[in-house]
Amino acid sequence: MCGAVAAAKLGPMHVYRSALLRFADDGSALYDEDGLLAVGADAEGRQRVLAAGAWQALAPRYADAPVTHLPGRIIAPGFVDMHIHFPQTDVIGSPAEGLLPWLENYTFPHESRFTDPAYGAQVAGFFVDELLRNGVTTALTFATSHPASVDALMGEAQHRQLRLITGKVLQDRHSPDGVRDQTEQSLLDTEALIRRWHGVDRLGYAITPRFAPTSTPEQLRGAGELAARHPDVWIQSHVAENLDEIRWARELFPTSRSYLAVYDDFGLMRERAVYAHCIHFDDDDRVLMRDTGAVAAVSPTSNLFLGSGFFDYAGADRVGFGYGLASDVGGGTSFSPFHTMLAAYYVGREGRSKQGLSLSPEQLWWQHTAGAAQALGLGGVVGNLQPGCEADFVVLNPAATPLLARRTQQAGSLAELLFALIVLGDDRVVEQTVISQAKYGSRA
Ligand code: GUN
Ligand code: ZN
Repeated sequence: MCGAVAAAKLGPMHVYRSALLRFADDGSALYDEDGLLAVGADAEGRQRVLAAGAWQALAPRYADAPVTHLPGRIIAPGFVDMHIHFPQTDVIGSPAEGLLPWLENYTFPHESRFTDPAYGAQVAGFFVDELLRNGVTTALTFATSHPASVDALMGEAQHRQLRLITGKVLQDRHSPDGVRDQTEQSLLDTEALIRRWHGVDRLGYAITPRFAPTSTPEQLRGAGELAARHPDVWIQSHVAENLDEIRWARELFPTSRSYLAVYDDFGLMRERAVYAHCIHFDDDDRVLMRDTGAVAAVSPTSNLFLGSGFFDYAGADRVGFGYGLASDVGGGTSFSPFHTMLAAYYVGREGRSKQGLSLSPEQLWWQHTAGAAQALGLGGVVGNLQPGCEADFVVLNPAATPLLARRTQQAGSLAELLFALIVLGDDRVVEQTVISQAKYGSRA
């Protein structure tokens, strides 16, 4: 097991030598068995990739730079988690018949504990450590309805230079005391938090209506107005996850064409709008996603755990809207991107309209790195190790367990190697997580 997160400073320019995984613009995987990654600070002091490729070709250019040689290791982009709930860290593994009883019996009571800012601060610290231990370097995260929960999480992320986007949850109805907020105050709080945090260091703000059934039309309208006034702020919510939830949303908003269309009717669909789940869609919904530039956070461990259904990859690709992978902790069962990628493989395999062999390991990995970054509007910024990207990366040990060592040694191709890691891997594979100049992890 990994102990407490430890940070160590590196120099201003540095070269790493190891196997190197990254992605081309078309999403295909690029792999150098003997690779070189050069990183250095830009004018603002932010660490960026200067060069990435084959050691033999690039090493002469960096003859004077200090080198960290990592034989037997793989450097890969830090993972991007498109949808996770930091206050649900301690809700993982709470079984329920489905989404709505799970919210009522476990999630809302637990989130009410964040009325106490000290509790929120303690969970925020643990949560950020857990992301880093699992190799996640960018996350779009729900907080709770309590503004202090946003302050706690932003503060923890800023301290470790994590790229993190979060927002105060908006839920002014159909929610118990302790989590229900007040319409007008919730919008004032949101605006104040945007001004306090959005664009500070590596932090971003997301306007966060929990889901249509727990917001009044007035709150959704106000959220849409804020989204119009702050076009570079993200929007996050849930949609079309569960059949009972869909029935409820349709009853509450009978004039909207569909559950998804409720968000469009209130100005909440645009680029940088991220909707978790997107399972029970028709083609009009898919077209609405594509035409507005909204994207899906595919959350397979959550969908399997809560029995919600299967994201239709073929439908999304046929119509052409964006998506990427997400843990959705605590409906989701794991912080580990390896577990999420494996669950996505199962979902792709099971999906009604998907024929044959599900998703390739390269596609799964892309969906949790460069693809997720692109869906968040952060393509070329994070999720990849091409020159110019922010230098967030993981050092993976493909021999982290006896079985992994045995299996990965027999891999005859990149696909076989990545598949073995996805199927057998977890936090033990992540030897270090490197963000900016800091190195996290105690297995190094
Ligand atoms: N829908 C509304 N709130 C939630 C939540 O916290 N988790 C999931 N999975 N779905 C939701
Ligand atoms: Zn969620």
